Amino acid sequence: MIPVLASTKAGLAAARGTLRGPVVLVPTMGALHAGHRAVLRRARELSQPNGNVLVSVFVNPLQFGAGEDLVRYPRTFEQDMAVCAEEGAAVVFAPERSQMYPAEQMVTVSPGPMGRVLEGKSRPGFFDGVLTVVLKLFHLVQPDIAVFGEKDAQQLAVIRRMTVDLNLPVEIAAAPIMREPDGLAASSRNSYLSARERATALALPRALQAGAAAAAGQRAASPPGASPPGASPPAAAPAAVGPAAVLAAAHAGLAAAAAADPPLVLDYLALADPATFEPAGEGYRGQALLLAAATVGTTRLIDNVRLVLSGPP
Ligand code: PAF
Repeated sequence: MIPVLASTKAGLAAARGTLRGPVVLVPTMGALHAGHRAVLRRARELSQPNGNVLVSVFVNPLQFGAGEDLVRYPRTFEQDMAVCAEEGAAVVFAPERSQMYPAEQMVTVSPGPMGRVLEGKSRPGFFDGVLTVVLKLFHLVQPDIAVFGEKDAQQLAVIRRMTVDLNLPVEIAAAPIMREPDGLAASSRNSYLSARERATALALPRALQAGAAAAAGQRAASPPGASPPGASPPAAAPAAVGPAAVLAAAHAGLAAAAAADPPLVLDYLALADPATFEPAGEGYRGQALLLAAATVGTTRLIDNVRLVLSGPP
């Protein structure tokens, strides 16, 4: 299917008017990769049997802080159109900045406390920018469903919360993280990494895996060299692995990368309640997200893994 391309709000309204059945929105900043394809496929499934997928492609200046990568953010529009066509999108909305921000944006959406920790703490204003553009897109597109990737777990949670708190008539759906063959979570920013930086960056998903394995009580959680070669694995999954042990396993997985050349510079490694993003403290039990952000070279990477913190037997 060749998608209809709308680059103005009027063009979008006209294209939207032709769509019958449920409309599933996939908001993106372009530079579409395997992770976006997974989101687009989920959107396609959700649009069946008689709905349509509408993709927005807009590098939103409001969510970039001073000194961040707005100017160098990859822009691959021709390729993006091809991906949208391959994944069956009916409409692509790719506005200029002046369409989305015709004047100075004086009113913005505040993410509240959930948006002031982790990514929100490291990138002040980031979630205000995300929520503001997503709310604009919801008003312009009037989607029935919008799909976001789980790699940006805090973004997903904050957007879900916005739809509840502001009574928005949109269902929020999620698509799982896509990993590249070496384990790195698919991201538009991966294209910035040199081969050496990428080798260092791989410690991030591995450390999260080590944390998840610790939560599951598996031997794989041990940092390399922690147990003597040939030592027998535990007979059964031991119970009661708390947040501190999970974080310790993940931190151990990052130690070598922190000393590598180029080094991995950790921003945060945290366990949080997936719904509220409050820290999962020592008494916490149940589903949790282990989240990390780090910089390698000049590239900031985020990743996360879902796990269960079980109580004592
Ligand atoms: O995840 C992204 O690509 C962006 O934050 C989004 C949701 C498209 C808003 O600009």
